[in-house]
Amino acid sequence: MSAVEQALPQFSSKRLEEIKTLIARYPHSRSALLPVLHMAQEDFEYLSMDVQKLVAKTLGLHLMAVREVVTFYTMFREKPCGTYLLEVCTNAGCMLNGADELVRHLCDTLEIKVGGTTPDGLFTVTEVECAGACAGAPVVQINNAYHEKVDAAHMDVFITEARGQGGKK
Ligand code: FES
Repeated sequence: MSAVEQALPQFSSKRLEEIKTLIARYPHSRSALLPVLHMAQEDFEYLSMDVQKLVAKTLGLHLMAVREVVTFYTMFREKPCGTYLLEVCTNAGCMLNGADELVRHLCDTLEIKVGGTTPDGLFTVTEVECAGACAGAPVVQINNAYHEKVDAAHMDVFITEARGQGGKK
C-alpha cells in the first residue's frame, strides 16, 4: 500500500464485507456505486475528496466516474453540514407554494446563506430539486424526514425546539 493510499480514510471490515456482498449482485462493480456512496456518507458524514477516492479505489473505478455521480445528486454532500440539514425543495410545485419565501425566511432567521451552516453547527440550509412529494408542497426534508405544507411558523417552532435541545436529535 502506497503512502497516499494509507492516508485515505478506510471502511471498517464489516462495511467492506457489505460492499463485497453488494458488488457480487451486479455484473459490474460500477452498478454498486450509488449504494456504496450512501454507505460512505453514512460512515464519514460527508463525501470529502479522500472519501470519494476511497470509493473509487474500493470499486475499481476512475475517480471521475465517482465525481460525476456525487456532483449530480443533491443527496450527496461534499462538505460537512449542521446537525440539522434543512433541504428545501425549490422545484416548480414547491416554488409556486412559497418555497422561495421559506428559503429567505430560513436564511434570514439563521443568518446564513443557502448552502451555509450556522456558527454553532446546528443548521445547514440547502435548496434541492423535486423531493417527489409535490402534493405536500412546499416540502422541507430535515435529515431523513419529510415535512410537508411547511410554512415559516412551522420552521420557527422547529428551530426553537432544536435549539432548546442543545442540538441533540
Ligand atoms: S416540487 Fe417540491 S416536492 Fe415536487
